[in-house]
Amino acid sequence: MQHFLDIHKTSTSDLRAIIDDARAVKEARAGRPKGMADDEQPLSGHMVALIFEKPSTRTRVSFDVGVRQMGGQTMVLSGSEMQLGHGETIADTARVLSRYVDMIMIRTFEENTLMEMAEHATVPVINGLTNRSHPCQIMADVLTFEEHRGPIKGKHVVWLGDGNNVCASFLHAAGQFGFDLTFAGPETLDPEAEAVGFARDQGVRIKLERDATKAVKGADLVVTDTWLSMHDPQSARERRHNQLRPYQVNDALMAHAKSDALFMHCLPAHRNEEATSQVMDGPNSVIFDEAENRLHAQKAIMRWCLNHTS
Ligand code: CP
Ligand code: NVA
Repeated sequence: MQHFLDIHKTSTSDLRAIIDDARAVKEARAGRPKGMADDEQPLSGHMVALIFEKPSTRTRVSFDVGVRQMGGQTMVLSGSEMQLGHGETIADTARVLSRYVDMIMIRTFEENTLMEMAEHATVPVINGLTNRSHPCQIMADVLTFEEHRGPIKGKHVVWLGDGNNVCASFLHAAGQFGFDLTFAGPETLDPEAEAVGFARDQGVRIKLERDATKAVKGADLVVTDTWLSMHDPQSARERRHNQLRPYQVNDALMAHAKSDALFMHCLPAHRNEEATSQVMDGPNSVIFDEAENRLHAQKAIMRWCLNHTS
């Protein structure tokens, strides 16, 4: 068994195997009703706990559906309703849950919570988003890019806005899958130095740019995310909006990227803030393919955790 904690903590060959497996898993059930079981049932008899300390639509539903398609059962738990939210240690929670379930997916605040869970659980633990990263999302995004445009290796990705958790996972992916990434945003919202350093150490080009128009030149993929993440205080909203308005993804900005540049957003979006509806619903947008691919990518991640990758 193995944990899926972060893209930079998983080997490039395993990441590639997961993406290829996700494609195969997706193709194998193409056209079937969502509630119909897969031919292969690697999670048969398995119970999976899905723990949420933050809200979720995509992660919650895609993991739940994915587990069921692979023959397993799920238990969706809210952190605040568990003893975890009332003083029980993460280590004890991990030990106890490992006696009841075969796999744990957790969405939480501090990265340390995830790490402690993984350290003390005797079943695989999957990162469903922390304040610092969102690896399942970026695995779905790599799958989506490659379905539309072929290998992501050597491509140029431009991230606009807040250098947040999703941006950090994109930087990890840049290093692991071998693509260049330009971040465009204000200096105060630069992505964390550790993620930038990781990608640079793998030999890819990472640029930090202040000018949105300059940044998107030659982009194969333009990505943005909400200007205020779930862990950010609401009091930061006005300042963030003022700082980030020049980085809105709109048709005028997309005109400076390659003409076939894709547009991605992990969702949920605040339409006409970080990206306009014209771009989100436009011909270059693949936002709903990304959302769908959460299901297929995560099924491949769970298969990998249980050593079922084909
Ligand atoms: N993109 C994503 O993780 O969405 P949810 O917050 O709805 O799970
Ligand atoms: N950056 C966002 C992603 C939501 C899926 C957040 O952390 O709230």
